[in-house]
Amino acid sequence: MKSIRKAVFPAAGMGTRFLPATKANPKEMLPIVDKPLIQYAAEEAVAAGIDTLIFIIGRNKRAIADHFDKAYELEAELEAQHKDKLLKITRDILPPHVNCIYIRQSDALGLGHAVLCAEPAVGNEPFAVILADDLVKNDGPNCMEQMVGIYNEYHGSVIGTQTIPREDSSKYGMVAGPDLAPRISQVDNIIEKPLPAEAPSDQAVVGRYILTPRIFDKLRTTGRGAGGEIQLTDGIAALLKEEKVYAYSFEGRRYDCGSKLGYLEATVEYALCHDELKADFCKYLKSLKVCD
Ligand code: UTP
Repeated sequence: MKSIRKAVFPAAGMGTRFLPATKANPKEMLPIVDKPLIQYAAEEAVAAGIDTLIFIIGRNKRAIADHFDKAYELEAELEAQHKDKLLKITRDILPPHVNCIYIRQSDALGLGHAVLCAEPAVGNEPFAVILADDLVKNDGPNCMEQMVGIYNEYHGSVIGTQTIPREDSSKYGMVAGPDLAPRISQVDNIIEKPLPAEAPSDQAVVGRYILTPRIFDKLRTTGRGAGGEIQLTDGIAALLKEEKVYAYSFEGRRYDCGSKLGYLEATVEYALCHDELKADFCKYLKSLKVCD
């Protein structure tokens, strides 16, 4: 059985909910405290044993590649000023054994299309997909580490899920199927953004997947679905007619950093865990007394 070596990071969306911040910068470059979302996602993948990072980038293509690239002038300047700690932070963005590949999605045709763009770099092996705007915080193994564990046990595609209030179903892909073990079920139905009355369960797909390469065959023939986009959910719906697909309700708190509220919640909670900031930030929040 092949282990999971590659992760795809779709980052070519329009990010309309964050305009104008995302007019010239990808949403995935928005920082939570002092790190861009895409770096949290890359670190999660690397901790899960992945060594090839495939970024699907859009019209604002340079920022993500520049972030993971060497910054010669900055490094020289920090070195000259003996700012060793900052130099280390700048140099150690990724460990040396990790390779980055950048693929352009010239039209934002949807998440399914973005994943299909990764096929030449993924080839014929199972791979991870991480949506960096879904930030997951967990004290134990990170979300992708947990998912790789489930893949190694069940040997099939795994979709990360979370329980949501049913009235929010039209914002998510929703899955249903029989339970196999605590937190794990076999998916027999998946549908993108159903109305609450049509949602098959209260289990929502969030931005973590492990997929077998057969998904590419399915995505090639997936037409436009919800919102006029080529949906990954529709590709998975076709896949599960031929292969077992599992849903895994991961451990951890997920922040929807593609929405302003989720982004602010993540910022506050990561700041409250930040070694240098937490004491002062906590004091500041207590002083506010604005929302009694
Ligand atoms: P979203 O549904 O959050 O869309 O995409 P969006 O365009 O990024 O943001 P809004 O809704 O306009 O504010 C989910 C993920 O899929 C990627 C996005 O970058 C995000 O990580 N994506 C989406 C692509 O890479 N390409 C696409 O064509 C669409």
